[in-house]
Amino acid sequence: MKYHIITYGCQMNISDSERIATILDSVKYKNTSNLKEADLVVVAMCSVRQSAVNRVHGLVEKFKNIRKNNKNLKTILTGCVLKKDKNIFIKGFDCVLDIKNIKKIPKIIKTNPRHISRYRLKYDEGDYLDITPKYSNKFSANVPIMTGCNNFCAYCVVPYTREREISRPAKNIIQEIKNITNPTSPRLRGAKEIWLLGQNVNSYKDNSINFPKLLRTVNDIPGEFWIRFTSSHPKDFNDEAIKTMATCKKVTPYLNLPVQAGDDKVLKSMNRHYTVKDYKNKIKKLREKIKNIALSTDIIVGFPGETKKQFENTAKLFREIKFDMAYINKYSPRTGTAAAKLKDDVSIVEKKRREKVLTEILKQTALEKNKKLIGKETMVLIDSNRGDYWFGKNEQYKTIKVKSNKNILGKLVKVKITEVAPFTLKAKIIK
Ligand code: 5AD
Ligand code: SF4
Repeated sequence: MKYHIITYGCQMNISDSERIATILDSVKYKNTSNLKEADLVVVAMCSVRQSAVNRVHGLVEKFKNIRKNNKNLKTILTGCVLKKDKNIFIKGFDCVLDIKNIKKIPKIIKTNPRHISRYRLKYDEGDYLDITPKYSNKFSANVPIMTGCNNFCAYCVVPYTREREISRPAKNIIQEIKNITNPTSPRLRGAKEIWLLGQNVNSYKDNSINFPKLLRTVNDIPGEFWIRFTSSHPKDFNDEAIKTMATCKKVTPYLNLPVQAGDDKVLKSMNRHYTVKDYKNKIKKLREKIKNIALSTDIIVGFPGETKKQFENTAKLFREIKFDMAYINKYSPRTGTAAAKLKDDVSIVEKKRREKVLTEILKQTALEKNKKLIGKETMVLIDSNRGDYWFGKNEQYKTIKVKSNKNILGKLVKVKITEVAPFTLKAKIIK
């Protein structure tokens, strides 16, 4: 029997899919990259924006065609699914399964999934995170430390799809990282990069172990590897976290700190619990303590009621902070969230305009910052290639392109930056 996994959305979903793969391997299913060849398709969906949900509707249509030639095709939908969408998608999938329930997949595929999905499956809180994943990347490993969210930002589905926060026991996290960074590990021969994942990593808590303490413990694990983490909430990203980032050698000088908006009134209606001044103070402290820190952010343009003037405050913040990267999103109403009750009153044309304004500022500020890196040396973890051109990310999570006629995939190489664009840097290998 062959299985095919389709993953949409963020790193957390990729990490979940790596666990689903382990489960299917354990029942002797074979992975196939060809959807049409599969006996079982598992989809890990994302619900953060309607466009992501629409992709799954598109898949349902595709399945209808495939089923004409393969009557036995079984399909399971999991990941981040909204309750109202579960009821819709159960018509297109054999089974809609809570992500916390993936251990039940072997039982489901043995029986008739349609039969199973009629029952409300009760899930086994949290312990799915301790399934050993089938890591999809040999050099960079996703390690979830928590899942779910208690913050209820007005626009966000996560508290509804992943429910309340659960932190994974620290001892399990540490054991997993020890296993994968060990050069003799059978699964990953010495991962060079660890991503600690969670919807809000800064609120991690296992008894007396908070996020900074966890970072310090991971930093003390022997081996040559980088530590990165995502996502952080500005309200929880505190002085202790800054100090820990500055003192832990393996933690890379890169931070994604989603600001979402640069206007206090909009932040308040988004239920974010910080002001623009608070955010700027955190960035100031970070830059004081970590001189070479690179910063990225997430933004939502066109949140309900956001006026042109309020948007101008976001543009002003962009010019002031000079981000290295930004993930700019057009507001998309999500059923069940607090913002869904507000009128989605910024037109799509205006949302696109705002997105473009921020992108232009970002291009300028990122280029300005990158120019200062010409001639500087940096380490790069090579993750892909096109012929003799190799690509990777440096400590600051900037994309670097180098030329080499040797196979350097998965290697940490020292390079000197020679040419820059807003989002890619060209470099020469030194070592
Ligand atoms: N509409 C648009 N963007 C959203 N995000 C979260 N919810 C929405 C929404 N309803 C963005 C936020 C978040 C990122 C993962 O997705 O910027 O940080
Ligand atoms: Fe999408 Fe959020 Fe779920 Fe990630 S956690 S897949 S971004 S809804």
